[in-house]
Amino acid sequence: MNENPPLLEVDHVTKTYFHVHALTDVSFSVRAGEVVGLVGDNGAGKSTLVKVISGVHAPDSGSIKLSGVEQSFRSPRDAIEAGVETLYQDSGLAPDLSIGANVFLGREKLLPGIRGKLGFLAQREMDVQAHADLERVGIAVPTGRSTVSELSGGQRQAVAIGRAIAWARKVIVLDEPTNHLGARQAGEVLEVIRAARSQGLGVIFISHTLPHVLEVTDRIVVLRLGRLVRDAPTSEFDTNSLLGTITGLIGGDRDPALEAT
Ligand SMILES: Nc1ncnc2c1ncn2[C@@H]1O[C@H](COP(=O)(O)OP(=O)(O)O)[C@@H](O)[C@H]1O
Ligand SMILES: [Mg+2]
Repeated sequence: MNENPPLLEVDHVTKTYFHVHALTDVSFSVRAGEVVGLVGDNGAGKSTLVKVISGVHAPDSGSIKLSGVEQSFRSPRDAIEAGVETLYQDSGLAPDLSIGANVFLGREKLLPGIRGKLGFLAQREMDVQAHADLERVGIAVPTGRSTVSELSGGQRQAVAIGRAIAWARKVIVLDEPTNHLGARQAGEVLEVIRAARSQGLGVIFISHTLPHVLEVTDRIVVLRLGRLVRDAPTSEFDTNSLLGTITGLIGGDRDPALEAT
């Protein structure tokens, strides 16, 4: 059992888009060194929850707390500054830039002195640092100087996650990171998630691939129709019971279909 205090608390979060109740009174937490799976059918509210946690949307009511402190993110930049890194389905890597340039994308290091003032980048330093950052989480890339277009799909995704882990100070949110990857490449990504956990980050892992969720998570949160229906240790699920909870064939602890009556 993970006894660390919660890093991230989602506290009674409700979010509607006009008439659509995307999230209704959702509460759960993620501890340091814990991987929490977030699952649910299409439209269950997963992406909306990610957007609330990452500062894209403010909740209508409820709050997000980090290390016990209530946050009021007004933009993704606020969430990043507070220590939350989010990797969306589309990895956002620039294929023609080097791995180093990608890891430092948007946070480039300038050369010291006058050259830096003129906007010259410390490219070599970034390439070397990126290589070390990726190696630290178990990602072997040839050198930081190679361009992303030279990498396989699995390596690219590993670099995207490695970048997020390198910058995350508290929480990392991964939305479908193993989509479109072969079995071996997906396995590499799951390894990187374990590395993030052992560094003491809190990890939220969203996936439709239930075997991956069962393999890598410590706890699973199931959303259905915008409500949290189950939050339990992964050991309490198997593929069938997880699928049943997602689809509603198996009632969760808090079943929206029953509550509606
Ligand atoms: N920008 C939006 N405007 C209106 N409705 C939205 C918007 N984004 C999501 N929704 C609705 O909110 C609900 C939850 O969607 P979403 O969070 O994308 O679920 P998931 O990621 O689990 O598939 C769905 O009914 C969806 O149609
Ligand atoms: Mg989604």
